[in-house]
Amino acid sequence: MDPLALYIHWPFCLAKCPYCDFNSHVRERIPEARFRAALLSELGWEAARLGPRPLGSIFFGGGTPSLMAPETVFRLIEAATGYFPPLPEIEITLEANPTSVEAGKLAAFREAGVSRLSLGVQSLDERALGFLGRRHSAMEARAALAAARREFSRVSFDLIYARPGQTVASWREEIAEALALGPDHLSLYQLTIEPGTPFAARHARGEIVLPAAETGEALYEATEAEAARRGLLSYEISNYARPGAESRHNLAYWRYADYAGIGPGAHGRITLGGRLIATRRRRAPEAWAERVEAAGFGSDEEEPLSPAARGREMLLMGLRLAEGVDGARFAARVGLPLAEALEPAALEDMLGEGYLAWRGESLIATKAGRLRLDALLPRLLR
Ligand SMILES: C[S@@+](CC[C@H](N)C(=O)[O-])C[C@H]1O[C@@H](n2cnc3c(N)ncnc32)[C@H](O)[C@@H]1O
Ligand code: SF4
Repeated sequence: MDPLALYIHWPFCLAKCPYCDFNSHVRERIPEARFRAALLSELGWEAARLGPRPLGSIFFGGGTPSLMAPETVFRLIEAATGYFPPLPEIEITLEANPTSVEAGKLAAFREAGVSRLSLGVQSLDERALGFLGRRHSAMEARAALAAARREFSRVSFDLIYARPGQTVASWREEIAEALALGPDHLSLYQLTIEPGTPFAARHARGEIVLPAAETGEALYEATEAEAARRGLLSYEISNYARPGAESRHNLAYWRYADYAGIGPGAHGRITLGGRLIATRRRRAPEAWAERVEAAGFGSDEEEPLSPAARGREMLLMGLRLAEGVDGARFAARVGLPLAEALEPAALEDMLGEGYLAWRGESLIATKAGRLRLDALLPRLLR
């Protein structure tokens, strides 16, 4: 069995960014002690049923986990690595926002056990940061990155592109600057308009106009080319890494390995008694904490996944990866041969049109296919 990946969600932010629909909440005072206790308790509860499996990675995501006290991070790492024997090369990532306050805590996070930092830079362009409603300047972002590189040997950062009015030329410049800052990993996301966000309302009023699909494709091409020139390869649709610096934690999701999710709204896929169970915690932070305090864990119900559901999920995740979906791994994880999970006529068409390809026993989406994955998958899956 693959090593376990552990996700820990910290649901609080200082302000809500107008494009974001992650499970993140603003509170006048963050109830740190209560949430630390609840996270530790849910972790213990989950560990009791999972047993002492080897632990390959921990990921502190959010929200804004860099708002946590380093002591909280330390306690969670200590507990997790006590329950689950860590692999020697365990990867422990923390997402951080690049404000000066958080940059000042980086050394303490490293001392707490964090080995990889993922910074939410979003843009190196001052006007774009204003548009995105970010609370840090481009200068603060550069300073946070420099601090991150001093403290951590593994640093990644996020940028959002395909913003209104963005040209291929200006994006090339921005990404070249980003790459010159020396990350070993980048997550580069095209701006999406998420329903229910302030951006969705502005988009509906015509105040925000996204680049046309062809511009989006040209921006994607430019992204891949610039990253490759600096030795960062596209190993997943939105993720680029120097070979060997891929996020092991995120690879566990995309390869459909077991992962446990702790904290409000966290998802998990865990094998228990030979069945793959989908777990999802209550989304609202206080409702989650109340349930943990009453029951030890914060889910209302959990669902064993059928072979068909497992097959769909594994393909949805795996075709995002450049390495694609391995046939033998698919059969072992899903309980069906890969070919049986696919619509034969659609598969033939997509192979013929050059959107999909076989590489040995693996089915991969070509670059053209990965650009259209959302449109292809509903036809491809049985
Ligand atoms: C959980 S969030 C980030 C963590 C951290 N709180 C931050 O904002 O820096 C993960 C990443 O998703 C990306 N993201 C969030 N909403 C997005 C959207 N609507 N379109 C594109 N990317 C988005 C951002 O790049 C963000 O850094
Ligand atoms: S983008 Fe990050 S900081 Fe902004 S609301 Fe979402 S999780 Fe919070």
